Amino acid sequence: MNSLIRWAVLSILLVTYHISHADAQTAKIVYLGGCQKGYASEYYTNYHHELLASVVGSLDLAKELLIYSYANYINGFAALLTDEHAYELTKNPAVTSVFENTGHELHTTESWSFLGLEDSEGDGPPGSLWNETKLGADVIIGSLDSGVWPESQSYNDHGIGPIPAKWKGTCTSGTAFNATNCNRKLIGARFFIKGYEAKNGPLNETLTGDFLSPRDKDGHGTHTSSTAGGRFVKHASWFGFASGTAKGGAPSSRIAAYKVCWPKNATSGSGQCHDADILAALDQAIADGVDLVTISLGSKVPLRNFFGNGIAIGAFHAVENGIPVVCSAGNDGPAQGTVSNVAPWVLTAAASSIDRTFLSKVTLGNNATYIGQSLSRDKLPNKYFPLVSSADVGNSIASLNESTLCTPGSLDPTKVAGKIVACLRGGPGRVSKGHTVKLAGGIGMILVNSPAYGNELIADRHVLPASQLTAQDGAAVFAYINSTSSPIALLGAAATTLNVKPAPVMAYFSSKGPNSLTPDILKPDITGPGLNILAAYPEVAFPTGLAFETSVVKFNMLSGTSMSCPHLAGVIALLKALHPDWSPAAIKSAIMTTASVLDNTGTPITDAFQKIASPFNYGAGHVNPVKAADPGLVYDASLIDYLLFLCGLNYTQMQLQTIAGTFVCPTILPTASDLNYPSIAISNLTATRTITRTVTNVGDIKSTYIATIESPPGISVSVYPPLLKFSKKGQKKTFQITFTANSLPSSGYLFGQLVWQDDHRHVVRSPFAVRIA
Ligand SMILES: *[C@@H]1O[C@H](CO)[C@@H](O)[C@H](O)[C@H]1NC(C)=O
Ligand SMILES: *[C@@H]1O[C@H](CO)[C@@H](O)[C@H](O)[C@H]1NC(C)=O
Ligand SMILES: *[C@@H]1O[C@H](CO)[C@@H](O)[C@H](O)[C@H]1NC(C)=O
Ligand SMILES: *[C@@H]1O[C@H](CO)[C@@H](O)[C@H](O)[C@H]1NC(C)=O
Ligand SMILES: *[C@@H]1O[C@H](CO)[C@@H](O)[C@H](O)[C@H]1NC(C)=O
Ligand SMILES: *[C@@H]1O[C@H](CO)[C@@H](O)[C@H](O)[C@H]1NC(C)=O
Ligand SMILES: *[C@@H]1O[C@H](CO)[C@@H](O)[C@H](O)[C@H]1NC(C)=O
Ligand SMILES: *[C@@H]1O[C@H](CO)[C@@H](O)[C@H](O)[C@H]1NC(C)=O
Ligand SMILES: *[C@@H]1O[C@H](CO)[C@@H](O)[C@H](O)[C@H]1NC(C)=O
Repeated sequence: MNSLIRWAVLSILLVTYHISHADAQTAKIVYLGGCQKGYASEYYTNYHHELLASVVGSLDLAKELLIYSYANYINGFAALLTDEHAYELTKNPAVTSVFENTGHELHTTESWSFLGLEDSEGDGPPGSLWNETKLGADVIIGSLDSGVWPESQSYNDHGIGPIPAKWKGTCTSGTAFNATNCNRKLIGARFFIKGYEAKNGPLNETLTGDFLSPRDKDGHGTHTSSTAGGRFVKHASWFGFASGTAKGGAPSSRIAAYKVCWPKNATSGSGQCHDADILAALDQAIADGVDLVTISLGSKVPLRNFFGNGIAIGAFHAVENGIPVVCSAGNDGPAQGTVSNVAPWVLTAAASSIDRTFLSKVTLGNNATYIGQSLSRDKLPNKYFPLVSSADVGNSIASLNESTLCTPGSLDPTKVAGKIVACLRGGPGRVSKGHTVKLAGGIGMILVNSPAYGNELIADRHVLPASQLTAQDGAAVFAYINSTSSPIALLGAAATTLNVKPAPVMAYFSSKGPNSLTPDILKPDITGPGLNILAAYPEVAFPTGLAFETSVVKFNMLSGTSMSCPHLAGVIALLKALHPDWSPAAIKSAIMTTASVLDNTGTPITDAFQKIASPFNYGAGHVNPVKAADPGLVYDASLIDYLLFLCGLNYTQMQLQTIAGTFVCPTILPTASDLNYPSIAISNLTATRTITRTVTNVGDIKSTYIATIESPPGISVSVYPPLLKFSKKGQKKTFQITFTANSLPSSGYLFGQLVWQDDHRHVVRSPFAVRIA
């Protein structure tokens, strides 16, 4: 049935239903655990029809109401259900959970957004590792996102070998897309929209410009998948900035795009990427044979529990099948407790800067100079121009607040013409402020961070010569304007600058710990590059999203944890190529325990406020791919470990048995802190607490590791035994780490680290975060 007819039918059903019942139908997901091996998917689909019929009354009606049947690896279905029917289903012991088909958002900061509010916005090549892994050859990266622009050179397949024999995926045809768009590089492309349409009605391709096919209109999906696995493309640049060779983390890997994200619909208020579609995509991706999955989307706090979240459930089954999953942490920083995608079976990526930036110099009439950032293509003549504060040049209808923030239409052209205008950051989008200045006749803009934004500089593609300054530098600019009757400034052209120090610096927007759902699992796990990242882009999406901007680009610069997530996916692909036998937990451990907490000046990584960053910013630290290839020891975890973790939370024996058959929770329930995780969190330390960890030797056959601990004042920490001797590869050793509170309850968390070291070659570092109750 095509979607229009399907919708007509559903609408009629909905209408009749409304007449006879007060209770409205909405799309809900009925999660039934995992599929057992040896059963055909038809078996499960029939079962889903019958189960649904048992509450809605007839098999025919059940078939009409069913949206998806998940029947490969994930067992469950999505259907239009009243709350009453949903409730009846939850009483069935076969049902793990029932939850609304909710939308998640893409995790790019809308650095190019014109009208968006700031609040809602959000490589070095590893050298020898690339050689050893043959650039990640034959590893298949599954990307759940907004689709793919197959013509991009990042997906060219020149010189790439045949498609791996194990691949069972396909290229689905649709609008402006068919199987000929796939090749030996882009080996799969599918789209999933029924969950989205259940919320928003049929996709109107004319209205939205999107494609009912795997083709990417938004740009996000093309950007993220090419970041993870794009090929070398020479002479890539963005209007001349950042020119060089564009490439992904694993340039010889294969890419499979699963389009689950669609245009935002302001009316419905629903997100872009829906649980029902995400589950369908993950169930399919596992069956297709992907080697890892990258997901740059998520939801905001308050977080739904693990069995009420399509990403968490789908990722669980991927990991169960040996497929690592990396997710973005979200762009809701710098507030604490904002991190999303917190399931312990996924790797959660925060975002930080790289050592490349786009500088533009501001010189004031008093000769003071400040270095700001900009990606503006326009330059002013190399001379001084009059400078005004926007607060002083508002028009008669604008409030002082509005002119201070350069809101649209707030400036008086007679006071602005021919001048450089200093606007305060906040409220309207950064690029929008420049547009306001330009419309009023201004010739340049200095965008000043308000104190809340600290030194977070984002190089924007401004529509006029412009430079963004830190709060501190900006205050000096305002003071200078006040100090003289005829302030002037010289605005230098923006230029790409390399080897910037310090780097990395944590991104202002990167979501932070503690983990609001399970505070005894430290999140995020890791940080990677996520500021001003250049990668492939569809040739339809306007880079700034500005109505008057008509440029089409092959590469675009974006910022967000959406960008750091596929960097981590590229690293996972390389590790998969090098160590095909490592579990998802082992790969994650290797990445975490080898991460760096120092920047390129050799001092601790800082945040956007020049303060020393903590594990709540970056988890274990900044990813180091070369070291991750040889971590020495790993903290491994199996399905059983995750089930034990779930036993210790609110999940019932019955729920867990739907996933794992005969599994029985122990009588003494483990705590989340006891999961064999590469980092440690104790949210509620009273007196003394001992937790257990097990490490597996993946390094030299014979080695001796010695523990060292750095603990903050207020707690003492000890390890037993303090020395671990390994005589063969694969050998496991268990140790205990005891935390003792010796100070009064702390309002915040205290941080420290445990390090296992062998002859200075392997350094296995675990951060910990402890709060004294
Ligand atoms: C790895 O290095 C060897 C020796 O220098 C070279 O022959 C080979 O082409 C390199 N392989 C890749 C994939 O770079
Ligand atoms: C697939 O698309 C290409 C160009 O986009 C077109 O030339 C070709 O005819 C299409 N094939 C089919 C089977 O529709
Ligand atoms: C947005 O969703 C509503 C349903 O909530 C639907 O009626 C409307 O057509 C949708 N708009 C677009 C542009 O898709
Ligand atoms: C899709 O949007 C276009 C443009 O707004 C409109 O003319 C058309 O009627 C819409 N189609 C449907 C099926 O709603
Ligand atoms: C456990 O249940 C409590 C109370 O119902 C709830 O607030 C909490 O979010 C649940 N925790 C998890 C991890 O699901
Ligand atoms: C700024 O520097 C120039 C050239 O070095 C000099 O001529 C001028 O007097 C200086 N102005 C101030 C206010 O210091
Ligand atoms: C101006 O902004 C300040 C601080 O954000 C706020 O307290 C005040 O209410 C605003 N005034 C107007 C008129 O919007
Ligand atoms: C500049 O002057 C304005 C108004 O006189 C005042 O509100 C503002 O605080 C001053 N700014 C600085 C940085 O001195
Ligand atoms: C922390 O532990 C104390 C004592 O064991 C307990 O009363 C309290 O509820 C706990 N708080 C949390 C947030 O778990």
